[in-house]
Amino acid sequence: MKIQKLKEKFEEIFNEKVEGTFFSPGRVNLIGEHIDYNGGKVFPCALTFGTYGLVSKREDKKFRVYSINFEKVGVIEFDLSKIEYKKEDDWANYIKGMIDRFEKNGYKIDKGLNILFYGNIPNGAGLSSSASIEVLMGVILKEEYNLDISMIEIVKIAQESENKFIGVNCGIMDQFAVGMGKKNKAILLDCESLEYDYAPFELGDISIVLVNTNKRRGLGDSKYNERRASCEKALKELREEGVKITNLCELTPDEYERCKQFIKTKESLKRVEHVVNENERVKKAVEALNRNDIKEFGKLMIDSHNSLRDLYEVTGKELDTLVEESLKCEGVIGARMTGAGFGGCIVSLIKNDKIDSYIENVKREYKNKVGLEAEFYIATPGKGARKLGDENENI
Ligand code: GLA
Repeated sequence: MKIQKLKEKFEEIFNEKVEGTFFSPGRVNLIGEHIDYNGGKVFPCALTFGTYGLVSKREDKKFRVYSINFEKVGVIEFDLSKIEYKKEDDWANYIKGMIDRFEKNGYKIDKGLNILFYGNIPNGAGLSSSASIEVLMGVILKEEYNLDISMIEIVKIAQESENKFIGVNCGIMDQFAVGMGKKNKAILLDCESLEYDYAPFELGDISIVLVNTNKRRGLGDSKYNERRASCEKALKELREEGVKITNLCELTPDEYERCKQFIKTKESLKRVEHVVNENERVKKAVEALNRNDIKEFGKLMIDSHNSLRDLYEVTGKELDTLVEESLKCEGVIGARMTGAGFGGCIVSLIKNDKIDSYIENVKREYKNKVGLEAEFYIATPGKGARKLGDENENI
């Protein structure tokens, strides 16, 4: 599809000409799972697929928004004077959340917009379709109201919107990757200090393949918030015993061994053990990449998956089967679940000349064992959210 098609749709829906076209990617996390909200290091990259937004200004205070992905819902309308979460407004709550949080952070939004959205990130696949639309909206607001705001600030507001307006207690990784992504680069992000570094992620004869379990996952009603709460509880217990840390990822594996007796429940112990070791794995993985040791990187991905399965307990039959079957295939360097878990996607690194046989085998075995159709996407690290200039860019 071409952007031209989206423009035609915009004109049909709103009876206006498009004044600006915007894009924001999805993301995949390569390693460092469930540690962003524990002050750890993560290693995601933005993707080349994501969400498009086409905009025209309005003279009144109304927002009229439409998504090609939810055509049946039609145009959703709301007024700037009354921005509130409404369950029936479904996806448009992400838009409202951003407007609400921009205003609460002191940015002036005085008039409405017409916006048409189109996303090619599979929904609920754990590739951050929600962070994508949030950051997209942030960039739209910045450009349309000439706001003096940096991308990092947009990223922080997008996380705030997800936490406070949508009610999911997510960390900052997704919004950061979506906002700050660069072509052919992964981002090493320290989620405590927000210091970051780009690492080249061009692997020559190896590709990143994402495999969708097609088991839908809703973060809001998932066990995500529960996991986060167990970590917070363990941190509190450690601090009460005098362990001087402000987040769990400050502990090295040795320090963890020395203070783990202060953690009261078996469940929290497992969670913290994952967190501390996963943070170490990210450091080791980036070191391995720097010395071109992709085999070691792959091994760390597998260790990460096993820990998410056994200690953090966020995988499940679908993700585990995909990883197990992947690891049986020739040419696979590493595979692991990515994102929050409980469904969604796995990410694997595979030799290019083995991708076809990989897809064939994993598709067949997954169908036999789980009864669902897996979907496969070849991913390349792409650029972060932005206003588009090239009218003919392909979608
Ligand atoms: C979701 C959240 C992120 C992060 C991951 C798990 O994607 O939005 O903040 O916690 O899960 O690593």
